[in-house]
Amino acid sequence: MIDKHLHSLVQKMTLEEKVAQLIQLATPFYEASKDRGQITGPMVEMGITEDIVTSSGSVLGASGAQEVINIQKHHLQNNRLGIPLLFMADIVHGYKTIFPVPLAIGCSWDLELAEESARIAAKEAAVSGVHVTFAPMVDLVRDPRWGRVMETTGEDPHLNSEFARAFVRGFQGNDLKNQTDRVAACVKHFAAYGAPEGGRDYNTVNMSERQLRESYLPAYKAALDEGCEMVMTAFNTVDGVPASGNKWLMRDLLREEWNFEGVLISDWGAVKELIPHGVAEDEKEAAYKALTAGVDIEMMTACYVNHLKDLINEGEISEAVVDESVLRILRLKDRLGLFDAPFRGADVEAEREIVLSNENRRAARELAAKSCVLLKNEGFLPLDRSQKVAVIGPFAQNGDILGPWSWAGSKEQSVQVLDGLRNKLDASSIYSAEGCGIETITEAQLKDALDTASRADVIVLALGEHSDMSGEAGCRADIRLPKVQLELISHLKQLGKPMAAVLFNGRPLDLHGVIDQVDAVLEAWYPGTEGGAAIADLLYGDVNPSAKLTMSFPYSVGQVPVYYNKFNTGRPKDAPDAQERYVSQYLDIPNDPLLPFGFGLSYTTFSYHEASLSSQALTVGEPINLSVTVENTGQAAGEEIVQLYIRDVAGEVVRPLKELKAFKKIFLQPGEKKRIDFAITEEQLRYYHSDLSYHSDPGKFIAFVGPNSQEGIALPFRLNK
Ligand code: GLC
Repeated sequence: MIDKHLHSLVQKMTLEEKVAQLIQLATPFYEASKDRGQITGPMVEMGITEDIVTSSGSVLGASGAQEVINIQKHHLQNNRLGIPLLFMADIVHGYKTIFPVPLAIGCSWDLELAEESARIAAKEAAVSGVHVTFAPMVDLVRDPRWGRVMETTGEDPHLNSEFARAFVRGFQGNDLKNQTDRVAACVKHFAAYGAPEGGRDYNTVNMSERQLRESYLPAYKAALDEGCEMVMTAFNTVDGVPASGNKWLMRDLLREEWNFEGVLISDWGAVKELIPHGVAEDEKEAAYKALTAGVDIEMMTACYVNHLKDLINEGEISEAVVDESVLRILRLKDRLGLFDAPFRGADVEAEREIVLSNENRRAARELAAKSCVLLKNEGFLPLDRSQKVAVIGPFAQNGDILGPWSWAGSKEQSVQVLDGLRNKLDASSIYSAEGCGIETITEAQLKDALDTASRADVIVLALGEHSDMSGEAGCRADIRLPKVQLELISHLKQLGKPMAAVLFNGRPLDLHGVIDQVDAVLEAWYPGTEGGAAIADLLYGDVNPSAKLTMSFPYSVGQVPVYYNKFNTGRPKDAPDAQERYVSQYLDIPNDPLLPFGFGLSYTTFSYHEASLSSQALTVGEPINLSVTVENTGQAAGEEIVQLYIRDVAGEVVRPLKELKAFKKIFLQPGEKKRIDFAITEEQLRYYHSDLSYHSDPGKFIAFVGPNSQEGIALPFRLNK
């Protein structure tokens, strides 16, 4: 159908049918759903009638080919004009085959594998009837107290933008109508949801428009530039106006300036939340503000269906505004081919073959192994197969290694740490004990752990946070491991045996009590369905760790927010002429994070030398080239993520000490070296000035090339106009 057919369809719709097209309801509202009736209370409370359901536009959270086919079939039999439903769900890092959480995937710095993970997620979701995924989540983050840092790729605008593009490519492909094994993507949460005050979810976001544009908006724009079909509005305020009622954010910026023509959906209940936010007195005013600001679909509240008709009849809103939203929704349905093929890719038989296939598991295992970051290793890893190993901790056997957004994933079908080791080693050389719960410990557990460990040569700890200690509304003010786990470590340390800690957590932690107590630390995040297999591969050196952090690990939560692309201040502590006291510092802890952005160890070592610039003068349109030799100076083959940062030494506004501009992942055999090249362009030096103009300035710059954001070779150059 092209637009004129859609326009004529809109003209045939009654006002009630148009307004109902703008609501998204969860599956229990639908008669044909297996979950029918689970929420009859809210259905009545929300004033949702069967007529509204029959004319509704989209469904939240349906999955399973048969379920979707049943709901869609019933809907088409009852919808007067035969308008099909859109099925949307949170497929954030996998559908049934769960990949590592996005913060882990970010640490792989592997855009190809990230795209592949999204393609596989889309394939599993599409055959199960899903049309749209609420992903990628690209909120930039600097505060590990916030529970949803696990859902993003970290603290850098450039890296987040590259991953946003990769995820959109993987989810959507390039022809949604004919590629029914892909799904439409919905970038979220627009905007700056990752910057709540105090790291507390849903809290106020306060920042200048300039900082918003400089740091927080690029990744959303990158997703849209890659063709992302939808945008989801955030729960938070942006400069005092909740995103879901923010006309500047949605109409002026998104629609006008960025020319976004796709569908805007609110987050769950965010339209009605304009009332507690204090910008709407009641649901009618909330409906008015959200629609005039630009929200097309209201998720799981009923302000639109209960009040838009009156607002139109009272002349408060023109029906044309509703038509505009309806048309965008119908256009998305048409782009997905739903008018001709309302069941799209849903296929009960094929679902059994595709979901959790060995091929998909292999991809999950590979990506997990590339996402776990080796944070410490004092000659202990990789482990020796001949040694007896004791695996101790709550994540040894049945840990929740899928993460908070693993929705359709199955813990029972995942490979736990012990499974991974048992598939690699003779069972007689593995002992295990839970040692403690996530936040509780008993004398018996401790005794069992000590007895078990005393029989082994080496100890592998499997510790971490329960997945509901991060994720949505999972914020923590104390970001250390739970106390009982620190106690377990100190008891086991008294045995005097080498220990490695494998950590399962959804945020950078304050690692005091862990990293200072053990010989090696492997940050596994939530590694997904094949996590235990990947961890065994890494612990025994079948895979050499290559991941690097994309979010700083603070020395203490007292440092937060702490991030690498910080400003220098007028009294930098590390200035050559810095005074003892009157500088920007803490009296009780260092300024630097415990582990910086870009940091990660390998079982080999790499050296950087012979760095040079093709010229020290850059002009517009004439890039210069940075070259550096990277050598594998160790005994094991491995991958190295080479990073290029640039500093603008004097801007019209203060500029970060370093900004990631490019990165390359290379593989080197022991003793092998490669010459790596990066182009440095004038475009990379552009930034938002105080008047919000976006351009570069002539002057002095420094390029840094190296293994992380703290180490590297500095090469000064100038931009000449
Ligand atoms: C949640 C989340 C959002 C998710 C939506 C639908 O509140 O904020 O990321 O996509 O609701 O589940």
